[in-house]
Amino acid sequence: MFSLLIRRDGLIDPPPMGERDSHCHILPGIDDGPKDDHGALAIARLLCEMGVRKVVATPHVISDVYPNSTAKISAAVDALRRLFSASGLGIEVEAGAEYYAEGELLDRIERRDLLAFGAEKYVLFESPVERRPMVLEDIAFSLASAGYTPLLAHVERYAFLRKDPDAVAHLREIGVRFQVNHPSFHLPKTSGRGEMARSLYVKGLVDVLGTDMHRATPWDQPSRSASLRTGRRPRLG
Ligand SMILES: [Fe+2]
Repeated sequence: MFSLLIRRDGLIDPPPMGERDSHCHILPGIDDGPKDDHGALAIARLLCEMGVRKVVATPHVISDVYPNSTAKISAAVDALRRLFSASGLGIEVEAGAEYYAEGELLDRIERRDLLAFGAEKYVLFESPVERRPMVLEDIAFSLASAGYTPLLAHVERYAFLRKDPDAVAHLREIGVRFQVNHPSFHLPKTSGRGEMARSLYVKGLVDVLGTDMHRATPWDQPSRSASLRTGRRPRLG
């Protein structure tokens, strides 16, 4: 259970990160995370300093940008476990993914070709930031009926949800659980993302925390997300 403390600057004290980072781009060379083992080790060391004992590796899965297969991610996770073991790092790695909300994801659900994590069988998925995709509800329903728990990534980032509390309530009603990026709690009051993260937390709507780390960034700063924000490509997190 999270505790609520108000700080002098008026912001709430961030919730404890806990021992599991459920959203992290730690696998090297597979998406917009670290390029090599050195970068992955730097993230792992930072997570260890934060008290994290388990990291769920959640590389992007986007059909036309990062078409990572389940087999490719699983092999990369195995390699990372060996690397951490050889480096003496006491952090577990679990295989996951950050699936993009697109038609291809519905096909994956149909095939049960998914990397779910935790006892809840969470399947992490992300939406475009600016607009609500047509398939969002279908994805939630399909995941739930297939025995998974739909887990929407970094809920605080979506403008279409920040403007529409009813849409947030609706997603909850249809079984969607919410992942929030821990660095968002450190954003100032002028930040829509920061305010949304804090609002969700106060309302008890934060189910899962993650760092969404792509590089080894300091613990109390927002992680820097993808540099692929050009053209018509989706904004990634
Ligand atoms: Fe992400």
